[in-house]
Amino acid sequence: MIVLGVESSCDECAVAVVKDGSELLGQVVHSQIEEHEQYRGVVPEIASRQHTQHILPVYRQAIRESGITAADIDIVAVTTHPGLSGSLLVGTTFAKGLALGLDRPLVSVNHILAHLYAPRLSGPVDWPCLGLLVSGGHTMIVRMDDWQTLTVLGATVDDACGEAFDKVARYHGFGYPGGKAVDALASGGDETAYEFPGSSLKGDSHDLDLSYSGIKTAVTVQASRFLRPGKEASAENLAASFQRVAIGMIMKRLDRAVQQTGIHRLVVGGGVAANSRLRRELAARTHLQLAIPPLSLCTDNAAMVAAIGYEYAISGRFVNLDVPVGARVAGYKAAY
Ligand code: KG4
Ligand code: ZN
Repeated sequence: MIVLGVESSCDECAVAVVKDGSELLGQVVHSQIEEHEQYRGVVPEIASRQHTQHILPVYRQAIRESGITAADIDIVAVTTHPGLSGSLLVGTTFAKGLALGLDRPLVSVNHILAHLYAPRLSGPVDWPCLGLLVSGGHTMIVRMDDWQTLTVLGATVDDACGEAFDKVARYHGFGYPGGKAVDALASGGDETAYEFPGSSLKGDSHDLDLSYSGIKTAVTVQASRFLRPGKEASAENLAASFQRVAIGMIMKRLDRAVQQTGIHRLVVGGGVAANSRLRRELAARTHLQLAIPPLSLCTDNAAMVAAIGYEYAISGRFVNLDVPVGARVAGYKAAY
């Protein structure tokens, strides 16, 4: 079964072709980094216009590179939620037009579930397992009983981890996009130079929730207060010290989740899964059966959308052409 996936929830305009849910035939991702760089953040109006401009050429190139023709497409899958409304509308409208024109069924994909499905493109996964989603919009630990059944065990109560990376980079002028810039700077820094506070919600040692607002404030406006005596105040040291705490907060909750559930299988997804420190810390936990995507499938892409679209299709979860887009998933611990 050939599924064509469309992703336009934020600032990546992507189309991919996946065979039988796990074989990536081809993908084209048009990134809008240059357009948003001068604003040091994604500008929704610019993002929508960029998607409108690029969706058709991206689709045509993806079809070419996959070695198929439009007639070979069996299913069209598209991210319909959550994300930026205008951006989602462009990809969703395009996918609806394609499904209608080709007379093929349409599948509506949840972007969060798609991120957690990305590791499936590298090999099979057994159930139940834990899922760690760390992106610019979400930070959560979930229990997964299959690809579509998630129970949120813990989540950020305020900023997402990637958002904290982006805001720290923006405040200190480290570059754009922020997460990657902080990661690169951190590799040359002393991670013990600053002693930033981690989050301790309710002081509850069983809690799996976390918060990034405190560390974000500490690392931006209050940074100098946390410099250890005798250490140098440099961008590298600050980035490394922030990264140690930001990733450490996740690892602490993850270790707790493994202990509380007794589940040792873990799938990881989302842009922050590209972080070198997170990947190192995960790899060091040799008791975990880890499924983590390659860097190119951590950040937003359409391969994950097409791949999970296959799962939806084989269970007959098709949608009508009037399916709406949804900007948000209600509540930070919303049911999926
Ligand atoms: O999954 P994604 O592409 O979009 C969302 O669904 O949000 O994630 C983007 C986020 C951004 O906040 C970006 O700064 C972060 O992932 N990110 C990283 C790294 N690469 C991307 N954060 C830390 N280290 C990285 N290497
Ligand atoms: Zn994403």
